[in-house]
Amino acid sequence: MKALVLNGSPRKTGFSAAAAAIARDHLASRQVEVDLVALADLAIRDCVGCFQCLRTGRCSLDDDMDALVARMRQVDAFVVVSAVRNGDVSACYKRFYERITYRLGFPLALEDRHTLAISVVGYMGGKAASRRFAGLQDVFHTRLSGHLHFAAGIPGGPPGPRETTRITTALDRLVQDVHTRRGRGLADRASFAVDRLIMRRFVFRGREDVYADVVRQWREKGYMD
Ligand SMILES: Cc1cc2nc3c(=O)[nH]c(=O)nc-3n(C[C@H](O)[C@H](O)[C@H](O)COP(=O)(O)O)c2cc1C
Repeated sequence: MKALVLNGSPRKTGFSAAAAAIARDHLASRQVEVDLVALADLAIRDCVGCFQCLRTGRCSLDDDMDALVARMRQVDAFVVVSAVRNGDVSACYKRFYERITYRLGFPLALEDRHTLAISVVGYMGGKAASRRFAGLQDVFHTRLSGHLHFAAGIPGGPPGPRETTRITTALDRLVQDVHTRRGRGLADRASFAVDRLIMRRFVFRGREDVYADVVRQWREKGYMD
């Protein structure tokens, strides 16, 4: 099993950085091949909205995203950690997320991967946004293994023993979900099916040139029939 831990908080000494390190170390102890990437350490430019990726699968920007996308395609599972900032995911996580929306999200390239989302807020807010975005649920439809939402105070320190246990328990479940290939729940299956229907009927219709690469990948999956 291969996993990628993505830390979306730029703060090196905070809860997110420590939680991401706990995730990496615990997964490694379970014989998972795991990498930890701090998104703030990468050169990630803003998506310019050229939509070239929809047609060709390739991005027009030249920075660290190509290598990261290649790594994301290779793994079975993600652990995404994001701090809540202004009631939402951090700016650096959002920038990364925009860059993969049409490249990995629309082609449903990650639909069979499992994700554990971990979010941390000072006092309150951001839970739903974190579940959707850090859980790669939104347009990616990865299989959400779990979502942990912590309140760490301001400034937040590293997880304590009880929080660490919650994280390692959720990681064990993630490993189990990958090994058993746990499928989607009923509600998730229904929303996934509705999403596919809308895309096929309304978004792709008459615009196959614009969505050429996405449509090609959906055809390969048998989703266009
Ligand atoms: C710019 C900024 C905005 C923040 N916005 C919120 C917020 O809306 N609500 C909240 O409770 N905490 C907020 N916080 C506090 C962080 O969520 C808190 O410090 C948390 O521990 C962050 O995790 P980290 O230490 O891993 O970065 C904010 C922090 C920063 C730096």
